[in-house]
Amino acid sequence: MTLTKESRVTLNDGNKMPILGLGTFASHEVPKDLAEDAVKVAIDLGYRHIDCALITGNEMQIGHGIRSKIADGTVKREDIFYTGKLWCTFFSPDMVRKGLERSLRDVGLDYLDLFLMHWPFSIKPTGAADPSEKDKPFIYDNVDFCATWEVLEACKDAGLVRSLGVSNFNRRQLERLLNKPGLKYKPVCNQVEFHLYLNQHRLLSYCKSKDIYLVAYSVLGSHRDGNWVDPSLPVLLDDPILNKVAAKYNRSPAEVAIRFILQKGAVVLAKSFTPARIKQNLGVFEFELRPEDIKTLDSLDRNLHYGPFKEMKQHPEYPFHDEY
Ligand SMILES: NC(=O)c1ccc[n+]([C@@H]2O[C@H](COP(=O)([O-])OP(=O)(O)OC[C@H]3O[C@@H](n4cnc5c(N)ncnc54)[C@H](OP(=O)(O)O)[C@@H]3O)[C@@H](O)[C@H]2O)c1
Repeated sequence: MTLTKESRVTLNDGNKMPILGLGTFASHEVPKDLAEDAVKVAIDLGYRHIDCALITGNEMQIGHGIRSKIADGTVKREDIFYTGKLWCTFFSPDMVRKGLERSLRDVGLDYLDLFLMHWPFSIKPTGAADPSEKDKPFIYDNVDFCATWEVLEACKDAGLVRSLGVSNFNRRQLERLLNKPGLKYKPVCNQVEFHLYLNQHRLLSYCKSKDIYLVAYSVLGSHRDGNWVDPSLPVLLDDPILNKVAAKYNRSPAEVAIRFILQKGAVVLAKSFTPARIKQNLGVFEFELRPEDIKTLDSLDRNLHYGPFKEMKQHPEYPFHDEY
């Protein structure tokens, strides 16, 4: 399988997505400027896919980074694939376009390449819709994501976004969306937690059968931000079997963890704000895992969710009660 940093997959709407993207989530204590610097370093190194979200709280800095690399001639706008996400407080049909326009304004682009419904459930806005809401209790709402999707389709028709997708949807929810009467655009992808400890083989094969890409997050074992992740969970990159395989290839555990998911046929997001690691993670294009090592790594699966968003467990649209 010859994969390069220029490799892109063709989505079901004809648009092309680079197979490795830079993740940008960092806990609130991390200075925001680091996000801008990381994006600039990444673009200089050849990354063309940047994943962000309103709830991440740094779309302005990410946008500065992208626009400065366009301004200095390193890239053109069309070289960059930028993903934003509609936060769950923007699901009511009168709010959807506002949510998208807010991301467009913050990131400073005329269009987004991809816009995702961040989760399948809706939450009532508790005031200003910004990341500080994360600290407030969530109030469940019952907006049907199919109604949200129809407004997103209109936003695509209006040229505000090139491709539409979902995130954290289970199979049943994907099916409901795909069977929605009058569906105009299928989701091009489902962005989900997917790594050695959460080997999404059933969701992956279902999505492949529907021409929907899985985009993998927390491939390196997540950001481990205590607001979202239980710190007692095992550190994926410390896994002894992963480290043994990595040593065999003379690669870092991070490179092997990323390469494993790429060889499954998913698109990978890997977050780093550390220049040396942003660079190291591109090493995934310099080796290929052999079938016997893929098999060994498959055995690490333990259905572990680093980011189960437990506060939403009682919501009728909580996706992780289903097996997949
Ligand atoms: N749709 C969703 O609901 C959702 C949820 C979670 C994440 N995401 C997206 O997916 C992205 C990635 O997921 P994630 O942030 O959970 O984490 P991740 O990519 O699994 O891991 C990020 C962590 O790994 C470290 N790291 C990066 N490269 C490394 C290397 N070569 N060696 C050792 N450590 C390395 C980073 O540290 P440094 O930064 O300090 O280098 C950071 O602490 C996010 O940033 C976000 O864009 C989406």
